[in-house]
Amino acid sequence: MDDLASLRSELIGAAEAAADMNAIEELRITALGKKGRITQMMKGLGAMDPAQRKDAGAALNKLKNEVSAVLEERKSVLAEAAIDAKLMEEKVDVTLPVRPEREGRIHPISQTIDEVVAIFGEMGFTVAEGPDIEDDWHNFTALNIPPEHPARQEHDTFYLPGSGDNGGDQRMVLRTHTSPVQIRTMQKTQPPVRIICPGRTYRCDSDATHSPMFHQVEGLVIDKTTHMGHLKGCLIDFCRAYFGVDDLPVRFRPSYFPFTEPSAEVDIGCTREGGQFRIGHGDDWLEILGSGMVNPAVLENCGIDSTVYQGFAFGVGLERIAMLKYGIPDLRTFFESDLRWLRHYGFKALDVPSMVGGLNR
Ligand code: DAH
Repeated sequence: MDDLASLRSELIGAAEAAADMNAIEELRITALGKKGRITQMMKGLGAMDPAQRKDAGAALNKLKNEVSAVLEERKSVLAEAAIDAKLMEEKVDVTLPVRPEREGRIHPISQTIDEVVAIFGEMGFTVAEGPDIEDDWHNFTALNIPPEHPARQEHDTFYLPGSGDNGGDQRMVLRTHTSPVQIRTMQKTQPPVRIICPGRTYRCDSDATHSPMFHQVEGLVIDKTTHMGHLKGCLIDFCRAYFGVDDLPVRFRPSYFPFTEPSAEVDIGCTREGGQFRIGHGDDWLEILGSGMVNPAVLENCGIDSTVYQGFAFGVGLERIAMLKYGIPDLRTFFESDLRWLRHYGFKALDVPSMVGGLNR
C-alpha cells in the first residue's frame, strides 16, 4: 500500500500542477487510460487472493475516483482562466470617444420615419405593420380597386411568379402602397382604430424621381364620429410639426382615390423665387400627400359596420418629404449606399427625434 500512497501524491500533485488542457489529457491517459498506471494495477487484482483483492480493489477505486475528480477540477479552473484571459485581451474601453471617421449615421429615411412616428405618437397613434409581399386582395380588391379597375394601371406592380398568373385574389405582389396595412388592421381589430404604418413599397419604375423600392407612411383613424374636420386638423398639425413652420399654409384639394370618398390631396405653401425653393408662405403650392374619408365599401370589406363607423386615411411618400425638408436633390442617392452621402445627409445615432427634445438637432 505504500506505493499506492506515493502514486497518489505523485498523480494528484501532477494534476494540480497541470499547466494546460494538453497536460491534463496526457495525465489522464498516463493514469487512467487503457494502459494507464492505475488501470494496470487494477488488472493485477486478478492475481491476488480474495481477501487482499478486496482491500486493494477498494483502495484502487478510491484512487481512481480521486484522480479523475482532481483532473476535472483542474480542467474547469483552466477553462475559467482561459475565458478570463480572453476577456482581458478583448477588453474595450467604452468610455473612449468615437473616432469621427468611424461614427455611424442614421439614414435620412430612418430619421424621417422616427420623426413621423414621434409626431403621430404624440397624437395617440400607434404603429402597425404588414408584409411587404401582399396578396392581390389586400393590395387592391379590398381597397375597392377591383380587377380591371383603371387605378391598377397606375401602380406598376411587381407580380410574384407562380402565384396564380391568371389573376385572382391570391396572386402575390410586392405591395404597391402601405394601404393594405389598413385592411389587415381593420380585419383584426374592432374600432376605435388610430394607427400609422411606415414601410417599404414597390413599383416597377425607375428614374430620377422614381425608385422601384420606396417608402410610405399610411394613417388610419376609425371611430363613430370621426369626420373631415378631424382629417384636416390632424394633417395640418402634422405638416406644421414635421416641417417646423408654425404657420405653414396647408391646402386640401379635391382628388380621387378608390379607397376614400371624398378624397383630398394636401398641398403645402412654398416659394420658388430666383431659383430658390423655400417651404412656407408664398405664392406657390406643393403636393405632399393623399387623404380622404374611408370609403364605406372598404369598411364593409373588412367586416366593419359602415352604418356605425367612419373615419379617415392618408398616405405620405417618405422620400419626398425627406427630400423637401433636408434639401436632398436626387431620389436615387437614397439607395446607393454611398458613405460620403450618408455622412453628409445622415443623422447622429443618439439624437433620437421627439416632440419634447426636438425632431432634429
Ligand atoms: N395609397 C395611395 C398611393 O400610394 C396613397 C393614399 C392616398 C393613401 C389616399 C391613403 C389615402 O390612405 O387616403 O398613391
